[in-house]
Amino acid sequence: MTVTTTSTSDILPDTSSRWLTRLRWSRQPVRTRILIALVLLSAVISLVGGAVTLLGIRNRIEAEFQSPIALAEQYIIQTNRHFAADDRLIKTLPITLAMQLRHIRHLKVSVFDADGNSVALPRDADESLPPESEVPQWFSALAGNVSEHREIALTAGERRIGTVLLHAEASDELAEVWQEAQHQAIAWLAANAAMIAAFYFVLGRILQPLVTLSRGMADLGQGRYQVQIDPPRVPEFDAIIASFNGLASALSAAREENGRLYRELVTVQEDERRQIASELHDEAGPCLFGIKTTAAAIEARMSRVDHAEAAEIGRQLAEIGAIAGRLSILNRQIMKRLRPIALGQVTLRELINDLVADYRRRYPDIRFLTEFAVGERSYGDVVDLTVYRCIQEGIVNALRHGRARCVSIELNEVSPSQLATATALLLFLRDDGQGITAAATPGFGLAVMRERVQSLGGAWELSQNWPSGVTITATLPLSFPSPPALGRMA
Ligand SMILES: Nc1ncnc2c1ncn2[C@@H]1O[C@H](COP(=O)(O)OP(=O)(O)O)[C@@H](O)[C@H]1O
Ligand SMILES: [Mg+2]
Repeated sequence: MTVTTTSTSDILPDTSSRWLTRLRWSRQPVRTRILIALVLLSAVISLVGGAVTLLGIRNRIEAEFQSPIALAEQYIIQTNRHFAADDRLIKTLPITLAMQLRHIRHLKVSVFDADGNSVALPRDADESLPPESEVPQWFSALAGNVSEHREIALTAGERRIGTVLLHAEASDELAEVWQEAQHQAIAWLAANAAMIAAFYFVLGRILQPLVTLSRGMADLGQGRYQVQIDPPRVPEFDAIIASFNGLASALSAAREENGRLYRELVTVQEDERRQIASELHDEAGPCLFGIKTTAAAIEARMSRVDHAEAAEIGRQLAEIGAIAGRLSILNRQIMKRLRPIALGQVTLRELINDLVADYRRRYPDIRFLTEFAVGERSYGDVVDLTVYRCIQEGIVNALRHGRARCVSIELNEVSPSQLATATALLLFLRDDGQGITAAATPGFGLAVMRERVQSLGGAWELSQNWPSGVTITATLPLSFPSPPALGRMA
């Protein structure tokens, strides 16, 4: 049985909790999970790699301004000692130092004489390097200390003749490092993106058999047992797919056998019904008629006899006639239920109207709505009887199981175009009952209804209405390729 359900949650707008449920890890496909794991792994590797690189940067920057300071300090002390020996030379010491030290990388040198006057301007910053401001604050903070000051006194004997201020500045180095780090990060990101895209593609290829398998399973769940999956080119999945195909074939065969049995059952049942109906019609009907007319005839005679007993006998004969009359009506009703008496002699519309009129009489509180867009004709005993039985079972189910207050029957002709003749009949049976509950036990009625329709090459579907009730949709083709299995039943 195909049951499509429209639940309350389906028509409500998406809430955040539903989105969260969709995003849950356990709901993600394998491919997404592997990719998420890869992205996380790559992020962890990037973090560790970044920390190691940063440590290297700190050491490099520290070395960059420690070594020029040490070098310059060494040079100043040596030169001071050498110049101190000569009175003429000592006067030129500040300017010589300023000239000599101005080209040392990362070092700004300021030389002052004994009075504190600057003897030479410090070297200009190298314009070709990016200014420090381009380096973000967080990177400077992580890279560590980038500058250091040192003051060295120039002396001649005991006398102080000047001062040299050394200012080591590695900000240009930091800018270089920042640029390198940026390039490395872009290369790393591009490589990672390429790797993840490649994985996405490769995983898709590898896992394709699983996707196909899950689609196949869904087909089986929907009752499409003819489904077969092509063997994949992944050896590990070969056995699984082969088992699936075997299972689908076995289910298909079982379904076919089941259908055949149902059809046989329906055929036997219809034959039996027809036989009983014709016996009731041919045997019981005339007998009851005979009893009724004989009783009426004796009663008429007794009314002419002038005897006290005669009146009583006449009354009892009238009683026999009335009972025989009631039995006749009952007999006709049973015959009708067993098999529509007028099948093949009246139009399908009249046949259904007659059936519905019966139910209207028996259930005056229930609303029965009918809507026909069909021709004024019979569609042949097989189709007429199938439609009749579907409606009969649908009404009984709606009243008995669904406790419906309203049942609607809609029958349409389906044509490929407005001018073409009809190729199928489309039947809708709707009720406003309580609908099929989860506890419903599968019965014979719906299964037989479906089999009747499918054996004529038609389609049958049962769906739940919103907020309650059931709709049965049956499509019956009007020309079947081979004589239907229910041929005998008509
Ligand atoms: N229109 C309906 N409304 C509510 N429940 C239904 C309806 N039709 C069928 N059912 C449920 O489906 C079950 C199977 O129905 P059916 O195959 O006709 O078997 P049966 O009528 O012999 O019990 C019923 O027992 C009932 O629970
Ligand atoms: Mg039933």
